[in-house]
Amino acid sequence: MKHRKSVKDYIRTIVDFPHEGIMFRDVTTLFADPRGFRMCIDELLHPYAGEEIDKVVGLEARGFIIGGAIAHQLSVGFTPIRKKGKLPGATLSQAYALEYGEAVMEVHDDAIQPGEKVLVVDDLLATGGTAAAGIQLIEKLGGEIIGCAFIIDLPDLGGRAKLEEMGMDVHILCE
Ligand code: PRP
Ligand code: ADE
Repeated sequence: MKHRKSVKDYIRTIVDFPHEGIMFRDVTTLFADPRGFRMCIDELLHPYAGEEIDKVVGLEARGFIIGGAIAHQLSVGFTPIRKKGKLPGATLSQAYALEYGEAVMEVHDDAIQPGEKVLVVDDLLATGGTAAAGIQLIEKLGGEIIGCAFIIDLPDLGGRAKLEEMGMDVHILCE
């Protein structure tokens, strides 16, 4: 029987990028393939069929690519959560820990209305720091997060447990 490629089969690993010892999971090869990209968007949305979603939030930068496609598929709006200093309007900020030091994510302070049902998306969950900062920003604006969807989990880094401890429903396509 013919082997059908899974989402994972389209993801490329680059060794020692951006630093020695890092196995970088590169989704550009998944996004570049017409079947791969569609399969990825369809599978990210699969658990939410029939659920009310008012807005998709994507985390910079690769979360914008899948977030835009998902929002279009659902005919709802898209909101970016960006790294500090990129959004032009008034913002809320949330600091989060990196391996060394700290970073800050921002959202426009009028981007989500209280009570809006939000789906959060990104390509990859590692420590969960980026997603946790995004979740805090959405909750500060009064958004109700119905799920957090990722293509890849790096299970050794504990991101899934961190988000589940925050009460999130987490959906991930592969490890
Ligand atoms: C990557 C990835 C996630 C984040 C996950 O983004 O796309 O957003 O890291 O890591 P964490 O779970 O430990 O927070 P990166 O910071 O490399 O930014 P980029 O997408 O703008 O390149
Ligand atoms: N972000 C954090 N760790 C990563 C990895 N191994 N591959 C791609 N993006 C990442």
